[in-house]
Amino acid sequence: MVDVLLGLQWGDEGKGKIVDVLAPQYQVVARFQGGPNAGHTLEFDGYKHVLHQIPSGIFRSDIKNIIGNGVVLDPIIFKKEIDGLAKYNLNLNQNLFISKKASIIIPTHRLLDAAYEQAKGAAKIGSTLRGIGPTYQDKVARQGLRVGDVLSVNFRDKYATLVATHKTVLDHHQFDYQSVLPQLEEEFFAAVEFMQQFQLVDSEYDVNDALTAGQKVLAEGAQGSLLDIDFGSYPFVTSSSTMAAGACTGLGIAPRQIGDVFGIFKAYCTRVGSGPFPTELSDETGERMRAEGREFGATTGRPRRCGWLDLPTLKYVIMINGVTQLIMMKVDVLNIFDTIKVCTHYQLPDGTVTEQLPYDLIDANVTPIYKEFKGWKTTLENYHTFDEVPGELAAYIDFLEAELGIPISFISTGPDRQAIIHREAVV
Ligand code: GDP
Ligand code: IMO
Ligand code: MG
Repeated sequence: MVDVLLGLQWGDEGKGKIVDVLAPQYQVVARFQGGPNAGHTLEFDGYKHVLHQIPSGIFRSDIKNIIGNGVVLDPIIFKKEIDGLAKYNLNLNQNLFISKKASIIIPTHRLLDAAYEQAKGAAKIGSTLRGIGPTYQDKVARQGLRVGDVLSVNFRDKYATLVATHKTVLDHHQFDYQSVLPQLEEEFFAAVEFMQQFQLVDSEYDVNDALTAGQKVLAEGAQGSLLDIDFGSYPFVTSSSTMAAGACTGLGIAPRQIGDVFGIFKAYCTRVGSGPFPTELSDETGERMRAEGREFGATTGRPRRCGWLDLPTLKYVIMINGVTQLIMMKVDVLNIFDTIKVCTHYQLPDGTVTEQLPYDLIDANVTPIYKEFKGWKTTLENYHTFDEVPGELAAYIDFLEAELGIPISFISTGPDRQAIIHREAVV
C-alpha cells in the first residue's frame, strides 16, 4: 500500500515532522512533486534540520528515500543539502535514490522565475524564486532536461539548446544574466557531476517492486492543497499537482495502490507569498500567532501571513483528496489565546452565506463567519493521550471532527519528534 501525506493548507503545515514520525512504519519514503521551494523541518535529539528536496525519511535507518519523477530537482541545492547532512553519518549512497525522470532545474530557470516575477510587479505570485514554474513549464513544453540526461554524452548540447531559448526570454525582459550566469553554470556542472555518485534509477520500478514485495510506501507531499495548480487559489499557486492524485503520476503508481491519505493542517492558517487568504489577521492577534508559532519561511525566511482556521477550504480539500485521517499541527501555538476562532462559512457581498469555495476567492470578497471557542490557556507539554487533554481543547477537536467527518488521529504539540499525541496510545 502507498499512504499519501499531504498539506491541506498553503504549505508549511508540518509535513516534514510527521513524515519523520511515521517513517519507521514504512520501508520507502518518496517525494512526488515540487522541489526546492519546499522546506521541511525536522527536530530530534536537539538537532533542527530543514530538508528541501531530500525526503524526510532520510534520518531513519533502513528506509529507501526516493526523489520521484514528479519532482523538479536543482543539482546545486541538492549538493548543498547532501553537504549539510554530512554530520549525521547517514548511509546516503545506499538509502537515497533519484528518478531519472525527475526534471532538472538549471540556473536560467531561476533567473526566469525572477524575471517573470519582476514583470508582474504588484501582481507577483511571491514565488520562492527557486525556478519551479519555469522548470515545470519546460517539462510540459517537452523541452526540459531530466536527471537521466546527465548520463548522456549529449548532455551539454541539450543544456545549451535549452539555455539559448531561455536567453531570448531573459533578453526580452531586459534581465541581466551575463553577470551571474557563468558562476552559476560552473556550480551547476560541478553539482551535476556530484549527483552522479548517487543512485539514478527508474524509480517507478523501485516503488512497484516494493509494493509487490508487500512493503509500505509513504508518499511525502510538498506545498499544500491550496497551492495546487488545478484546485488552489489560481494563479497564486505553485506549478505542480499537490493533491493525492499527484502521487500516482509523480511516482508511477496505480490509484488502487493508495491506502490512507493523511491530511495535515495547522490549528490555524498561514500563507507565504501573495494570494487570497480569507481568515488572515492583519492585527495584533496575527502578530502574536506569528511570534508564538515562529512563522517565518523555512526556505526563504519570509514572515508567514497568519489567520484563523478556515473550514470551507479544509472541507474542499478533504473532498478532492479523499483524506482518510487528519493530523492537527501546532496546537500549542494556540495555548496563549483566551478565545479561539474557526471560520465555518463565508458571507458573500450579496448577503448569501455559503461553505463552498467561490471560483475566485479574491474577487468574491468573502467575509468569514466565525464560531468562537474558549482557549485552554495551558501548556500541553505534559499531555500524552487524547483522553487527558484539557476540556476546552477536547471540545475544539470534537467540533472539528464532527464538521469534517474524519478522525483526527494525531495532534502535534511542539516541533520535536516526541511532541505528538496519538489517538490510541502514547507514541
Ligand atoms: P512543512 O513544510 O510542512 O514540513 O513545514 P515547515 O517545516 O515549513 O514549517 C513547520 C514549522 O513548524 C517548523 O518550524 C517546525 O519545526 C514547526 N512545528 C512542527 N510541528 C509543530 C508543533 O506541533 N508545534 C510547534 N510549535 N511547531 C511545530
Ligand atoms: P512546503 O513544502 C509554503 C508558495 C510560494 C508562492 C507560491 C508559488 O515547505 O510546505 P513557487 O516557488 O512554488 O513557484 O511559489 O507557492 N510556496 C510555498 N509556501 N510552503 C511551501 O512548501 C511552498 N512552496 C511554494 O511562497 O506563494
Ligand atoms: Mg515548509
